[in-house]
Amino acid sequence: MDVSGASESKAYPGRDSHEYWDDGSIIVRTNKIPWTPWALEGTYFKLLDYSRNHSYFVFLLKIEASAPKAVHKHIGAANAYILQGGFGYEKGGVRAGDFFVEAGGIDHAPETDEDGCILLGFTNGAVAGYNDDGSIAGIIDVDWMVEQAKANGAFDHLSKVPRG
Ligand SMILES: [Fe+2]
Repeated sequence: MDVSGASESKAYPGRDSHEYWDDGSIIVRTNKIPWTPWALEGTYFKLLDYSRNHSYFVFLLKIEASAPKAVHKHIGAANAYILQGGFGYEKGGVRAGDFFVEAGGIDHAPETDEDGCILLGFTNGAVAGYNDDGSIAGIIDVDWMVEQAKANGAFDHLSKVPRG
């Protein structure tokens, strides 16, 4: 088995469709998935992978500059890599190329930069949004993400093989 990465042209399948294997491996063509409205006005996501057993999901998140600043709590850490634009909060600003961890248990209210933001996020547990009076407005967990993606016709790539 050549693991050097130096092999020449391999007959990879085309890149027009998602790929699935019985062992659970997948290749997701993210440009084939429509954006699904997320929890706030001006926010959209593409669900890339998930695990219900670990309450975990991987997603692309697009936040328009007009999206409201919303206080939320992380029930489990969120890791993310910024692909475009950025945002800022009390811990500083993050821009394209930055990776960050929002620790489990913290709450905060990021403010999106003027050019918006697209990030690749890895969420453990859930995210809880608050109302102005401190009560919980909603919980975003893996089930919510799956339901919204299915309702938007944006789940086919994850429906062919079981996810743990
Ligand atoms: Fe956050």
